[in-house]
Amino acid sequence: MPDELNHLPLIQRVLAREKATPGALLPILHAIQAGAGYIPDSAIAEIAHALNLSLAEVHGVISFYHDFRTTPPARHTLRLCRAESCQSRGAEALAAQLREQLGLDDHGTCADGSVSLRPVYCLGACACSPALELDGQVHARLTPERLQALLQSCREEVKAC
Ligand code: FES
Repeated sequence: MPDELNHLPLIQRVLAREKATPGALLPILHAIQAGAGYIPDSAIAEIAHALNLSLAEVHGVISFYHDFRTTPPARHTLRLCRAESCQSRGAEALAAQLREQLGLDDHGTCADGSVSLRPVYCLGACACSPALELDGQVHARLTPERLQALLQSCREEVKAC
Protein backbone atom coordinates (compact mmCIF):
# COMPACT_ATOMS: atom_id res chain seq x y z
CA MET A 1 0.00 0.00 0.00
CA PRO A 2 1.47 3.40 -0.91
CA ASP A 3 2.40 5.47 2.14
CA GLU A 4 -0.17 8.10 1.19
CA LEU A 5 -3.07 5.68 1.59
CA ASN A 6 -2.04 5.09 5.20
CA HIS A 7 -3.21 8.64 5.87
CA LEU A 8 -6.72 8.19 4.47
CA PRO A 9 -8.37 7.48 7.85
CA LEU A 10 -6.74 10.62 9.29
CA ILE A 11 -7.91 12.72 6.32
CA GLN A 12 -11.45 11.40 6.61
CA ARG A 13 -11.54 12.02 10.38
CA VAL A 14 -10.31 15.60 9.97
CA LEU A 15 -12.77 16.34 7.17
CA ALA A 16 -15.70 14.90 9.11
CA ARG A 17 -14.79 17.04 12.12
CA GLU A 18 -13.95 20.31 10.35
CA LYS A 19 -15.69 20.57 6.98
CA ALA A 20 -18.79 22.41 8.26
CA THR A 21 -16.71 25.01 10.10
CA PRO A 22 -16.58 28.42 8.36
CA GLY A 23 -13.09 28.96 6.95
CA ALA A 24 -12.32 25.27 7.36
CA LEU A 25 -9.54 24.96 4.78
CA LEU A 26 -6.63 26.18 6.92
CA PRO A 27 -7.62 24.22 10.06
CA ILE A 28 -8.02 21.11 7.89
CA LEU A 29 -4.60 21.57 6.29
CA HIS A 30 -2.96 22.18 9.68
CA ALA A 31 -4.64 19.12 11.21
CA ILE A 32 -3.63 16.84 8.35
CA GLN A 33 -0.04 18.09 8.42
CA ALA A 34 0.08 17.71 12.20
CA GLY A 35 -1.11 14.11 11.90
CA ALA A 36 0.69 12.96 8.76
CA GLY A 37 3.72 15.26 8.83
CA TYR A 38 2.78 16.67 5.44
CA ILE A 39 -0.18 17.16 3.07
CA PRO A 40 -0.34 14.02 0.93
CA ASP A 41 -1.46 14.42 -2.69
CA SER A 42 -4.35 12.12 -1.93
CA ALA A 43 -5.68 14.65 0.60
CA ILE A 44 -6.06 17.43 -1.93
CA ALA A 45 -8.88 15.86 -3.92
CA GLU A 46 -10.62 14.78 -0.71
CA ILE A 47 -10.42 18.30 0.70
CA ALA A 48 -11.56 19.92 -2.54
CA HIS A 49 -14.55 17.59 -2.74
CA ALA A 50 -15.52 18.06 0.92
CA LEU A 51 -15.31 21.87 0.76
CA ASN A 52 -16.68 22.22 -2.80
CA LEU A 53 -13.44 23.87 -3.95
CA SER A 54 -11.38 23.28 -7.07
CA LEU A 55 -8.10 21.38 -6.88
CA ALA A 56 -6.36 24.61 -7.96
CA GLU A 57 -7.85 26.49 -5.01
CA VAL A 58 -6.57 23.93 -2.52
CA HIS A 59 -3.16 23.78 -4.24
CA GLY A 60 -3.02 27.57 -4.24
CA VAL A 61 -3.47 27.82 -0.48
CA ILE A 62 -0.92 25.06 0.20
CA SER A 63 1.69 26.67 -2.02
CA PHE A 64 1.04 30.17 -0.63
CA TYR A 65 2.03 29.20 2.93
CA HIS A 66 5.63 27.98 3.17
CA ASP A 67 4.93 26.01 6.35
CA PHE A 68 2.77 23.51 4.47
CA ARG A 69 4.73 20.56 3.07
CA THR A 70 3.60 18.23 0.29
CA THR A 71 6.37 15.72 0.86
CA PRO A 72 7.25 13.80 4.03
CA PRO A 73 9.41 15.85 6.41
CA ALA A 74 13.15 15.31 6.77
CA ARG A 75 14.45 13.60 9.91
CA HIS A 76 15.84 16.96 11.11
CA THR A 77 14.31 20.38 10.48
CA LEU A 78 16.60 23.34 11.01
CA ARG A 79 14.95 26.77 11.03
CA LEU A 80 17.43 29.64 11.13
CA CYS A 81 15.95 32.97 12.18
CA ARG A 82 16.34 35.61 9.49
CA ALA A 83 14.53 38.52 11.17
CA GLU A 84 16.13 41.85 12.06
CA SER A 85 17.70 41.12 15.43
CA CYS A 86 19.30 37.89 14.23
CA GLN A 87 20.32 39.53 10.95
CA SER A 88 22.14 42.24 12.87
CA ARG A 89 24.02 39.55 14.82
CA GLY A 90 25.30 37.52 11.89
CA ALA A 91 22.42 35.29 10.76
CA GLU A 92 23.16 35.85 7.07
CA ALA A 93 26.69 34.50 7.46
CA LEU A 94 25.29 31.50 9.34
CA ALA A 95 22.75 30.97 6.54
CA ALA A 96 25.59 31.00 4.02
CA GLN A 97 27.47 28.47 6.19
CA LEU A 98 24.42 26.18 6.21
CA ARG A 99 23.89 26.48 2.46
CA GLU A 100 27.53 25.69 1.78
CA GLN A 101 27.90 22.82 4.24
CA LEU A 102 24.61 21.15 3.30
CA GLY A 103 24.61 22.09 -0.38
CA LEU A 104 21.01 23.30 -0.05
CA ASP A 105 19.13 26.51 -0.66
CA ASP A 106 17.21 28.21 2.18
CA HIS A 107 14.15 25.96 1.69
CA GLY A 108 16.07 22.85 0.69
CA THR A 109 15.89 19.25 1.80
CA CYS A 110 18.74 16.77 1.48
CA ALA A 111 18.09 14.21 -1.23
CA ASP A 112 18.15 11.43 1.36
CA GLY A 113 15.51 13.19 3.50
CA SER A 114 17.87 13.73 6.44
CA VAL A 115 17.75 17.53 6.88
CA SER A 116 15.43 20.32 5.78
CA LEU A 117 16.29 24.00 6.00
CA ARG A 118 13.52 26.51 6.59
CA PRO A 119 13.94 30.20 7.27
CA VAL A 120 11.87 31.59 10.13
CA TYR A 121 11.14 35.19 11.05
CA CYS A 122 11.61 35.46 14.82
CA LEU A 123 11.69 32.66 17.34
CA GLY A 124 11.10 34.95 20.33
CA ALA A 125 14.77 34.73 21.30
CA CYS A 126 15.82 38.15 20.00
CA ALA A 127 17.73 39.02 23.18
CA CYS A 128 19.95 36.01 22.50
CA SER A 129 20.42 36.47 18.74
CA PRO A 130 21.29 34.86 16.46
CA ALA A 131 19.02 31.88 17.00
CA LEU A 132 17.74 28.79 15.27
CA GLU A 133 15.35 25.96 16.00
CA LEU A 134 16.50 22.40 15.45
CA ASP A 135 13.74 19.79 15.68
CA GLY A 136 11.63 22.12 17.80
CA GLN A 137 14.39 23.13 20.24
CA VAL A 138 15.67 26.72 20.18
CA HIS A 139 19.44 27.29 20.19
CA ALA A 140 20.57 30.88 20.77
CA ARG A 141 23.75 32.94 20.81
CA LEU A 142 24.91 31.01 17.78
CA THR A 143 28.43 31.25 16.47
CA PRO A 144 29.82 29.49 13.41
CA GLU A 145 31.43 26.99 15.79
CA ARG A 146 28.17 26.30 17.67
CA LEU A 147 26.35 25.90 14.36
CA GLN A 148 29.03 23.45 13.24
CA ALA A 149 28.56 21.48 16.47
CA LEU A 150 24.79 21.32 15.91
CA LEU A 151 25.32 20.10 12.37
CA GLN A 152 27.80 17.58 13.75
CA SER A 153 25.03 16.25 16.02
CA CYS A 154 23.10 15.41 12.84
CA ARG A 155 26.29 14.21 11.10
CA GLU A 156 25.20 10.70 10.23
CA GLU A 157 22.36 12.13 8.15
CA VAL A 158 24.14 15.32 7.08
CA LYS A 159 27.19 13.74 5.50
CA ALA A 160 24.98 11.85 3.07
CA CYS A 161 23.51 15.07 1.59
S1 FES B 1 14.79 38.16 15.43
FE1 FES B 1 15.65 36.18 15.61
S2 FES B 1 14.74 35.41 17.42
FE2 FES B 1 13.76 37.32 17.13
